[in-house]
Amino acid sequence: MEKTVHQRYAIVTGSNKGIGFETARQLALQGIKVVLTSRDEKKGLEAVEKLKASGLSDDKVVFHQLDVTDPAIIKTLMEKAVHQRYAIVTGSNKGIGFETVRQLASEGIKVVLTSRDEKKGLDAVEKLKASGLSDDKVVFHQLDVTDPASIASLVNFIKTQFGKLDILVLYIYIYIHIHTYINELLVNLVGYIMRKYLINGNLQVNNAGILGIIIDLHAYKSANKLDGVPPKADDVIRETFEATKECLDTNYYGAKRMVDAFVPLLQLSDSPRIVNISSSSGLLKNIPNEGVKQELKNVENLTEERIDELLNKLLKDFKEGLLDKEGWPAKKSGYILSKAFLNAYTRILAKKYPQFLVNCVCPGLVKTDITYNFGELTAAEGAQSPVRLALLPQGGPSGNFFSRHETMSCF
Ligand SMILES: NC(=O)c1ccc[n+]([C@@H]2O[C@H](COP(=O)([O-])OP(=O)(O)OC[C@H]3O[C@@H](n4cnc5c(N)ncnc54)[C@H](OP(=O)(O)O)[C@@H]3O)[C@@H](O)[C@H]2O)c1
Repeated sequence: MEKTVHQRYAIVTGSNKGIGFETARQLALQGIKVVLTSRDEKKGLEAVEKLKASGLSDDKVVFHQLDVTDPAIIKTLMEKAVHQRYAIVTGSNKGIGFETVRQLASEGIKVVLTSRDEKKGLDAVEKLKASGLSDDKVVFHQLDVTDPASIASLVNFIKTQFGKLDILVLYIYIYIHIHTYINELLVNLVGYIMRKYLINGNLQVNNAGILGIIIDLHAYKSANKLDGVPPKADDVIRETFEATKECLDTNYYGAKRMVDAFVPLLQLSDSPRIVNISSSSGLLKNIPNEGVKQELKNVENLTEERIDELLNKLLKDFKEGLLDKEGWPAKKSGYILSKAFLNAYTRILAKKYPQFLVNCVCPGLVKTDITYNFGELTAAEGAQSPVRLALLPQGGPSGNFFSRHETMSCF
């Protein structure tokens, strides 16, 4: 791809008033991104507000303190201009994604917070700003990873606004389908399912098993009423072909669509990073079929086309009731395989793009909406491991799976 950066940038010194101020306005009106500077921070911020109040869009003018008699500040400004890094975090209107945006932005990275719902995304950006994050560190763009037109629109935004991309953090999480109303029983139910259904016998605990499955609260409520004993997980959880397909489409193909779309912009970065948010559920030990396990592990022979074939076979076997016979996981097959395919894809990417650092990570069992706040970690703690991988220095690991901060040798 041609190394063309469409967005143009300008610094106007002494631009909190007078001709400098008007120059900043007129450049910004021409589509140039302007750094309005002033030696006095208060005056500069007020000038930016005045420009915005006069109708200039939020992302066209930013403030930086600058006294031209101070070489140290000039150096900082120059370094920022040259080294500004940009990140996209998918599914970041809430949960771990939201906290990842906050932590990356606090490190000086300009982050695009994305959400499939515009209102939720804009509210999330406001929340970050209200908590003290500076105006120019986080911007919103709509993104539904299952919609190619939405991805194309984001590519265009990044191209025209930033000209390159440094970090792509892929968080996507399908919400559980709840058949009936939410009541006080829900928290107990989710905790119960976590313990009985997902965590038992697995030291690398994660909540991910509720993805791609349907929890039937009617069944739970009626069973609970009968004898006061919680029902078996199998009695309240249903797995359907549609939910399984949607899970694979969002978790695996959603990430792949994003990578395919953004590789050209990542290639313009001098430190490209991709972080795929995976889960310990997707570890190979959870797949009974030895052949599939070996294929996913063998990065020398594995191809993206072969992953497509395996994924289609899984769906076909699901439809025909052959999961068990064909050696797929009997429970949460969609979620387990979506993450196992994502891990395998991470290996392929690391090999294909040696100049990138591409890794996947299980953030731990985190209290978020999806777990109805069941878990050991806060969203901010859950975000720490993906953020660390997004900020890996040159020469860091690539093609690895991390369980929080620990590398796993077999995944
Ligand atoms: N929480 C845990 O314990 C845990 C454990 C292991 C792995 N993980 C992984 O961590 C990641 C984040 O989960 P979380 O706990 O932060 O969940 P969360 O709070 O429910 O957040 C999920 C995010 O994904 C978005 N999303 C869903 N479908 C999407 C689509 N088609 N396009 C764009 N965005 C979409 C949601 O948007 P809406 O608000 O529009 O639904 C939301 O912003 C997931 O990949 C999950 O597998 C979490």
